[in-house]
Amino acid sequence: MSNKIFLSSDHAGFDLKEKVKSFLTNNNFEYEDLGCSALEPVDYPDYAKLLSKKIKGKSNSKGILFCGTGIGISMAANRFSHIRAALCTSVEMASKSRKHNDANVLALGGRILEDKLALEIVKEFLQTEFEAGRHSLRVDKI
Ligand code: RB5
Repeated sequence: MSNKIFLSSDHAGFDLKEKVKSFLTNNNFEYEDLGCSALEPVDYPDYAKLLSKKIKGKSNSKGILFCGTGIGISMAANRFSHIRAALCTSVEMASKSRKHNDANVLALGGRILEDKLALEIVKEFLQTEFEAGRHSLRVDKI
């Protein structure tokens, strides 16, 4: 379909990452899982960094990050200047994060979201385009 999607999580986001992987496979998206690969505790900043480095210089690449709440891993990713990570808890937020903010990374909370909603958010994020126009000026100011 489009560019490869990079996935990365800590232990608290691991289960949701596995479900999102199944969703991506079933919907013909290509992805690369950067870890973690088990439920042993790890530090979410390390996994935010891995993904952030992967999509550097790839303007059309997208990533999805997972931790318990989505908060820590989105904070860590947003320390990188090329990352616009959006922590989303609704389909509307996912839509606006793409249309208005040109978010290149979606952050999800594995301990917050029901699976069904999480997959709806992923779908919306991946299928929605940036509207550009007046939003480009604002994104450029970030
Ligand atoms: C891990 O216990 C948890 O703190 C982490 O996944 C995340 O929710 C931090 O923001």
